[in-house]
Amino acid sequence: MHRVVTIDGPAGAGKSTVARLLAGRLGWRFLDTGAMYRVVTLAALRGGVDLEDAGALDRLAGGLDASFPPGLAVLNGEDVSAAIRDVAVTRASRFIADCAAVRDRLVAWQRAFAESDDVVTEGRDQGTIVFPDAFRKFFVTASEVERARRRHRELVAKGQDVTLDAVLDDQRARDARDASRAIAPMRAADDAETVDTTGLSIDDVVDLLIRKVLSAP
Ligand code: DC
Repeated sequence: MHRVVTIDGPAGAGKSTVARLLAGRLGWRFLDTGAMYRVVTLAALRGGVDLEDAGALDRLAGGLDASFPPGLAVLNGEDVSAAIRDVAVTRASRFIADCAAVRDRLVAWQRAFAESDDVVTEGRDQGTIVFPDAFRKFFVTASEVERARRRHRELVAKGQDVTLDAVLDDQRARDARDASRAIAPMRAADDAETVDTTGLSIDDVVDLLIRKVLSAP
């Protein structure tokens, strides 16, 4: 297996941006595992699949024509990078995240990427479940309000009509579900280093992580 840096943490902590930039600076591949859960969610919503039917979700994921070229998500040949960020997909993604059979498939995809490349991977369970032997593990977080503000700014910039309160409510519900999920709950691996990004710029965080990665034994 190649070298793996895992970045786990709650929604809105800036993980994706930080992981993408860190991967760019290292010249490693960036793996946005949330995008994988989102692509399955979008396919289920579009296909009218019952989100509570684990068997149907498993069949859907097994037959999915999806790929993740750097920075993109492609489903059946269509660039769905923007569509998977939609609020409806974000809300429904918990059904996919809770489905053990789908998780098994996505974990296998994720490990396959690390067979061929050095990767910086971002998600909830990367340091705990998917890559327990990762080269370096981080748990990136920020205060609840700061995370909601960042998410709200992003959504408004994309033209979505949502209030900060609604984003905060959704985020609280999602944090609680992510942390209490029976399988692969979000938590810091015992050997992960927690990085609180509250009040830090993206560049500060990337600089901090790159120093830590490069100084790792
Ligand atoms: O990080 P994100 O908001 O793009 O994640 C989308 C959904 O997928 C969210 O419900 C959490 C879930 N997820 C997960 O369960 N495990 C991962 N490794 C990544 C995301």
